[in-house]
Amino acid sequence: MNLVLLGAPGAGKGTQAKYIAEYYHIPHISTGDIFRRHLSEGTPLGQQARTYMAEGKLVPDDITDAMVDERLRLPDAIRGFILDGFPRNVNQGTALEVMLADRERHLDAVIYINVPRDVLIERLVGRRVCPQCGATYHVRFDPPKVDGICNVCRSSLVQRPDDRLETVATRLSVYSEETAPLTAFYQERGNLLEIDGTKSVQSVYEAIIQRLGARHD
Ligand code: AP5
Repeated sequence: MNLVLLGAPGAGKGTQAKYIAEYYHIPHISTGDIFRRHLSEGTPLGQQARTYMAEGKLVPDDITDAMVDERLRLPDAIRGFILDGFPRNVNQGTALEVMLADRERHLDAVIYINVPRDVLIERLVGRRVCPQCGATYHVRFDPPKVDGICNVCRSSLVQRPDDRLETVATRLSVYSEETAPLTAFYQERGNLLEIDGTKSVQSVYEAIIQRLGARHD
């Protein structure tokens, strides 16, 4: 199964991708996570991405496309993948088509998680992440058992720097201008599945699995 998850910042892409990846036994490939790993390891790629990410802007396409192309070459992606955060503009969508065509593959579906702006802002500003194991929480919707402490590894939770309100506004504008046109791009290709992302995590997950199953019956 070759899947793309589309949606605004805070739509729940990372949350859902984890479960979908487990269900289909495919790797969850998050460009945001890969960039953050490079940042924390201080690699040259991390240095290149740093300013764009801090300002809530997109990292240039040539850097991002090359990183995804390299990731899709790893053996675990041969039987499928779920891409979270890529493509993020029409140029990246076209680049992905070329990468897949080179491997004689195609996308099975593009899942578009639709969530209104006010809900997105609440989700982003309230998100807390574990810097150690990457687990994600929300102060209101999915709080940890002990305030500020990761359930999994007991590390102190932090707020992603780009989840501060001022950067969230830039990320949502960038999404409207650059990423939202991808819904029409994939609609034209007939593989867009729109999901109401305002329901509970479990309900959204069930809706995605049901729509993907119906498509492949
Ligand atoms: P990235 O890490 O991809 O961030 P994003 O797209 O902005 O997405 P988020 O991770 O913020 O949101 P999400 O949809 O995954 O939501 P989540 O599941 O965590 O990118 C970061 C940066 O990297 C970019 O700004 C850019 O600079 C760069 N970058 C990345 N990819 C790039 C690309 N292709 N090209 C160029 N640059 C790129 O959920 C959010 C919160 O809501 C959580 O707290 C969660 O617990 C909660 N929640 C989730 N679902 C529900 C629900 N159903 N009900 C209630 N709460 C929920």
